[in-house]
Amino acid sequence: MELTAQSVAERLGMDRDDAWLRRLAETGPPARPLELPGPEAARVLLDRLRVAAEDREEIFAALPAAAADPVLRWILDRAHQVLLDGMGQPSGQDIFPVLPAEYGEGARYYLVLLYLATLPATLRFHAARGIPEESSWETFGQLGEVLDIHRHKYGRGGVHVPGWLTLHLRGVIHRLGRLQFELSRWEGRPVLSVHIPAVGGPIGAEACDSSFARARPFFAAHFPEHGAELAVCHSWLLDPQLAAYLPEESNVVRFMRRWELYAGQEEERDGSILEFVFRHTGQPLEQLPQRTSLERAAVAHLRAGGHWRAPSGWTRLP
Ligand SMILES: CC(C)(COP(=O)(O)OP(=O)(O)OC[C@H]1O[C@@H](n2cnc3c(N)ncnc32)[C@H](O)[C@@H]1OP(=O)(O)O)[C@@H](O)C(=O)NCCC(=O)NCCS
Repeated sequence: MELTAQSVAERLGMDRDDAWLRRLAETGPPARPLELPGPEAARVLLDRLRVAAEDREEIFAALPAAAADPVLRWILDRAHQVLLDGMGQPSGQDIFPVLPAEYGEGARYYLVLLYLATLPATLRFHAARGIPEESSWETFGQLGEVLDIHRHKYGRGGVHVPGWLTLHLRGVIHRLGRLQFELSRWEGRPVLSVHIPAVGGPIGAEACDSSFARARPFFAAHFPEHGAELAVCHSWLLDPQLAAYLPEESNVVRFMRRWELYAGQEEERDGSILEFVFRHTGQPLEQLPQRTSLERAAVAHLRAGGHWRAPSGWTRLP
């Protein structure tokens, strides 16, 4: 029997009217069914993507099950086509969901399987844009970081930010040294949106300067039609209240000082700092670690009745 968005939703235990599954159904399958890599190819790829051994083994186990499961094949084929349709488009993250874990390993790792199977198309897109292959791999290697964070946070493997990885697969985010730059638009103009991966050590001024210096020439060479002159950043790292707790010469405060903040951003975003400092899963403040000055600041401010923000800022690209 032919699968539909509704029957897939029922089999997975999702809402029958799920908007993402409806979008996949509207998109339809790719011209050629998606090829999942075999065990040898997957081993080489996962190694290159900096995926830890524990995650690698579970992903191997998920591959044959997913390949044989019509429901997951239905999803993987169509999600792949969504990514191909959006290749190079500066349209932000696609809203891809976490699938119900009860459906098994294939559902838990569907985004990783999609990553492995879509990567060749993204690499072709990068190559057509003249991007050196080592630069592509530097960007794609964030998969290992994402899996590590999930295991650290929830105590088991998986991907909690599937939408984030759609940027990598659509070829619109590029890691240039310590920082990542995403082709984006902000308030109607082309910009590079700056992101800070957790892996890569401190965000010292020199490392950040070197990333910023690489950004404009990189995008002018490979995406000349974009023409961004500004970088923007939306992050807990830009909350000026941090300067009341951390020294002026700390990396966090020096990073914050790079940005002009947009006015009128009073929205409370405690969840953001709690995520990036503690990978918080709802435990009470008194149970959070207090080893670093930032951990102590994050908790002290909340206990004093304050709130954290995640402001947006801009700076001119050098
Ligand atoms: C961004 C990041 C690399 C900054 O780290 P850094 O360069 O070491 O920052 P600083 O040197 O200014 O650190 C000042 C203090 O805060 C601590 N600190 C910094 N980031 C921390 C974090 N994520 N968790 C706990 N403590 C942290 C440092 O250990 C230092 O503590 P100390 O004074 O007790 O020695 C780090 O916070 C990180 O990896 N964050 C996760 C990724 C992220 O937040 N991205 C942005 C998403 S919007």
